[in-house]
Order: sequence, then C-alpha cells, then structure tokens
Amino acid sequence: MKTQSLPTQPRRRGLHLTAMVLALALLFLIDTATRYEVAVSVFYTVIILAMAHVLAWRGLIVLTGSCSALTWLSYFITSYGDQRAGFVNMLISTVAILITGYLACRAELARAAAHEARASLLRISRIHSLEGLTTSIAHELNQPLAAIVTSGNACQRWMAQDPPNLDKARQALQRILGDADRASGIIARVRKLSKGEPASTRPFVFNTAVREVLALSQAEMQRLDIAMRADLAPGLPLALADPVQVQQVIANLVLNAMEAVALVDVARRTLLVESLQLQDKLVFRVSDGGPGLPAGAQEQVFEPFWTTKHEGIGVGLSISRSIVEANGGHIWAELPAQHGAVFAFSIPAAPGEGEA
Ligand SMILES: Nc1ncnc2c1ncn2[C@@H]1O[C@H](COP(=O)(O)OP(=O)(O)OP(=O)(O)O)[C@@H](O)[C@H]1O
Ligand SMILES: [Mg+2]
Repeated sequence: MKTQSLPTQPRRRGLHLTAMVLALALLFLIDTATRYEVAVSVFYTVIILAMAHVLAWRGLIVLTGSCSALTWLSYFITSYGDQRAGFVNMLISTVAILITGYLACRAELARAAAHEARASLLRISRIHSLEGLTTSIAHELNQPLAAIVTSGNACQRWMAQDPPNLDKARQALQRILGDADRASGIIARVRKLSKGEPASTRPFVFNTAVREVLALSQAEMQRLDIAMRADLAPGLPLALADPVQVQQVIANLVLNAMEAVALVDVARRTLLVESLQLQDKLVFRVSDGGPGLPAGAQEQVFEPFWTTKHEGIGVGLSISRSIVEANGGHIWAELPAQHGAVFAFSIPAAPGEGEA
C-alpha cells in the first residue's frame, strides 16, 4: 500500500530540496575556498542525515554519490595548503559520506517496511471488522462450488458410458444436491450475519454432520489416493451449535489435511478423522500423514493471511477459529506423536440429550 501524500507535503518537500541544493552549493564553495587541511567536506554527512526523512532510498543513493563527487571536485580545484593532508582528508570524508549514506538508506528501508506492515495491519483489522464477510463468502462458497463441478464432470462420465452407469450418476447427482444445499446454507448464514442476526444454534447429530462433509470429500480423496479412516464415537450426545457453520469448519480442516497429504508419497497419504466427547464438549479431530506444520507455527497458522501455499489465501483457519469461538468452542493444533499434523476443535454438547 502506497502512502497517500497530503496536499501540503509536495510544497514542504520542494522547500527541503531547495534547502538541500543551497546547502550543497555552500559547502562546496567553502570546501573549495579553504585550505586542503580543513576537512569541510565531512559536513556533507549532515546534509545526508537531514534528508534521510525526505528522500526515498534511491534519492539517498543519488545524494550520497553527489556528495562524494563534490568532495573530489573540491580537492582537484583547491589550490592552497598541504596537498597530501588534503588527499587524506578527502578519503576520510568520502568514507564518512558513504557510511552515512548506507546507514540512511537502511533506516529508510526499515521505515518503509514498518509503514507497509502498519498498512497491512490496518487492512487486516478492516477485514476482521467486517467479520470476514467478503473474504469469507468467497472462501466458503468456493468449496461447495468446486465440489459441484467435480461431481458434475463425474456424472457426465457415468452417463457417457455404454451402457450408462445410472447408479453412479445418481450418486453424483445426490452429491451435487447436497453441495448446492450447503452453498445455499452458507448464503443464508451470511445474509443473517449481515443483518446482525445471531448464528442459528440448535441441537444436531454431530457424527451425521461429520459424515456429510466426509461424503462430499470422498471423490477428491479417491482422486488423490488418500486412505481415510473415520473413528466416530458411538452414542455421543447432540451437539449444540450452528450446524452449517460447524460443517464449514470440518470442511476447512479436512481440506487442509487433504492438501497437506497431497504433498507426500502415496504411502503416507493417510487421514484419520475422529469424534469424541470430552466432559461437556464434543471434539472433532483430524490427523494426517502430511509434512506437518513448520516449527513453532502452531499458533501462527490461525492468524489471518498466514499461508505457505501458492494458491492459499491463509484465511481458512482464522475463519474457522472465529466460527468455533462464536459457537462457544475452542480450536487448536496438537503436536503429533509421529509425523504429520493434528487439528481439532470442540463445541458444546446439548445438556442432557442422547444421540438421536
Ligand atoms: N494439515 C496441515 N498440515 C500442514 N500444514 C497445515 C495444515 N493445515 C494448515 N496448515 C498450515 O497452515 C496454513 C494456514 O492454513 P489456512 O487454512 O488458514 O490457509 P491456507 O490453507 O493456506 O489457505 P486458504 O485460505 O485457502 O484456506 C497453511 O498454509 C499451512 O501452512
Ligand atoms: Mg486452508
């Protein structure tokens, strides 16, 4: 993000530049008019320091070069005093000018980087304050839409067979309907969010929600040769949260796990999906055999725009965290016993209700 110039800034900048040119001319005249032994040229460093906040790094390089050139020019024009002392003074001044110019450039680059970081912080907080509405819509709708396209293509292939495989085609159509439902659920939820309505919390069967998402991911898992195992605890109480939102989080975690194992050999492409009860919470956990998280990134991965993927936006986990916390739960990355990554979240169980 570029800095917006205020209307008064160009005038002030013009004044600074004029003062700089005058100071350079004055120093040059004094340096040339005085004896070799008087090291006036070292004061060019003061001009460089004074301009460090005005010029960008390219301007500072030009200024440093000009100061050095003027120092040398004065040396050749001056005609009085001890020439050897003058030569030594000129070398010392040149080194001082170059070092000052280098340090000023570095300070300017650091200032620009700090400015950029502040701008991106502002951008992030603005997006956060919209509760991820825009990014979140694009991100969340992407998954069911991509799944609809995949199932549509599969359906076309089953129908094109001779004779057509109607059973498989019907299954693909069912997946399309399921995905379309999910997409319209997301739109309905976003509409509620934009109207400021709360998430629609209701009791639902946790394992069914998990199975639905897994069914939608099945085709992609087959395509990527992923061996998935589901270990869903029987007899869990009902979950108490917004089921569409919870499915969105499950989909995000499963998708990340699939993307992670796609990076390793087929032999290590394993996924373990679990559901279990921990006191008054229900827990979903997915463990994968992928490359695992970068060292020390266990917390960072939940920050917005933190991504290691070329195509990634880095919002999947941060949106998941907002959703889970809004539903009274908690999301975390565990340290896996062996290789790979483990992600889990908890949501409240409905008090005193058994699984339907
Ligand atoms: N199962 C996993 N194994 C290894 N690294 C993971 C896993 N899940 C997440 N990560 C790391 O966390 C980062 C952030 O994940 P997140 O889902 O927020 O964004 P993303 O997947 O990069 O992009 P997108 O916004 O499309 O989801 C990933 O880029 C990846 O480095
Ligand atoms: Mg992701």
